[in-house]
Amino acid sequence: MSSSEPRNRLLEDRPRRPAAAGEFQPLELGPLRIWPPVVLAPMAGVTNYPFRKLCRRFGAGLYVSEMITARGYLLGNRMTRQLAAGHPDERPRSVQVYGSDPVDVGEMVKQLVEDGVDHVDMNFGCPVPKVTRNGGGSAIPVKPRLLARLVRAAVKNAGPVPVTIKVRKGISDDLLTFRDAGRVAQEEGASAIGLHGRTAAELYSGHADWSAITELKDAVSIPVLGNGDVWESWDALAMMRETGCDAVIVGRGCLGRPWLFKELARVFDGSEPDEPPRLGEIVAIMREHAELLIEAFGPDHGMRQMRKWCHWYTKGFPGSARLRGDLARVETKERMLELLGELDPDAPFPPNALRASRAKRGGTQRVKLPEGYLDDLDDDTPPKSPRTPEEIADWERTLSGG
Ligand SMILES: Cc1cc2nc3c(=O)[nH]c(=O)nc-3n(C[C@H](O)[C@H](O)[C@H](O)COP(=O)(O)O)c2cc1C
Repeated sequence: MSSSEPRNRLLEDRPRRPAAAGEFQPLELGPLRIWPPVVLAPMAGVTNYPFRKLCRRFGAGLYVSEMITARGYLLGNRMTRQLAAGHPDERPRSVQVYGSDPVDVGEMVKQLVEDGVDHVDMNFGCPVPKVTRNGGGSAIPVKPRLLARLVRAAVKNAGPVPVTIKVRKGISDDLLTFRDAGRVAQEEGASAIGLHGRTAAELYSGHADWSAITELKDAVSIPVLGNGDVWESWDALAMMRETGCDAVIVGRGCLGRPWLFKELARVFDGSEPDEPPRLGEIVAIMREHAELLIEAFGPDHGMRQMRKWCHWYTKGFPGSARLRGDLARVETKERMLELLGELDPDAPFPPNALRASRAKRGGTQRVKLPEGYLDDLDDDTPPKSPRTPEEIADWERTLSGG
């Protein structure tokens, strides 16, 4: 099937029916019981403490950090440590680890557990060329024995803390890896596997292939977390009903829409979701978001981060396009609120902004792998990873997730 063809039915064709009593179960990860079975997707530059806190206020579920590179963490890089640190009010506390060396990954997991983390997720889906060209991210599941070494190292050092892995379908339609990844995850003691129904070649284009989630669910006995194109609460129920998966991972759908987690909580509890907020309420959320970012990162860096959120929160509202340029340069919270004051606070949420991707444009890629990478798929040698602080800093700037 080509990536341009819709693979899962569009929402209009699906019933909008809240969950029946007992229809779905909490997600069980080791000692954790997650209800509703909803996971905030790890997203680099996005799922930091301020955004996690905001999402958690609206709903419930598991809120995973953005990916944290093992090398940067072990070297004590200040920003990496801050991103991994979480906050005392976060329970369960969940961190996504990125690494391709089992020794590093094992050591990082050990330290995270000592530091009180409740859940560790491992990123094996990153499609960024610089990463795959070096044999990292989505290139790792191509070598199941290497994948096994990495999962084993994490599980061993995590003790009672559950470890999950997150993968894509594979490199391309000709090189699918999710079946091997499922087998390895199960054999090595992972508590669950998350599957984004796209290949690395597809990046974020087309529709996610939910049939791969169904296939994986049929093949493994550990929980499967379905991922890809949950834009509205109804999509989550549809994904669970159509694929039989045990939980959904929500990524782009909640960008600038943290109240999606409240809608999710309601439909899983058998109620209709509330109407989305009007612009005035959204501006109040934006103010809170800006304050949290400023508290976490300081006024300059915090407001620089807020700029992209301004675009995502206001997308599709009448008059917002006119403010886009000014909001993209905004330097203070006060100026942000002044600019937003030019818009109509009673404006209802624009329906066409519900299913719009706020980050990551379409487009596909030819995935680059290291020279001769496919010659020996049984090879379990870790790829060369950056070692010096400069190499690591450069690497961390490049990474943008899975
Ligand atoms: C801005 C952005 C950053 C991302 N960073 C990560 C990451 O750090 N780790 C990861 O496993 N996936 C990352 N992803 C992928 C998402 O976790 C998710 O798999 C993907 O967006 C598909 O889900 P969606 O259709 O609900 O957006 C990122 C996605 C986006 C949009």
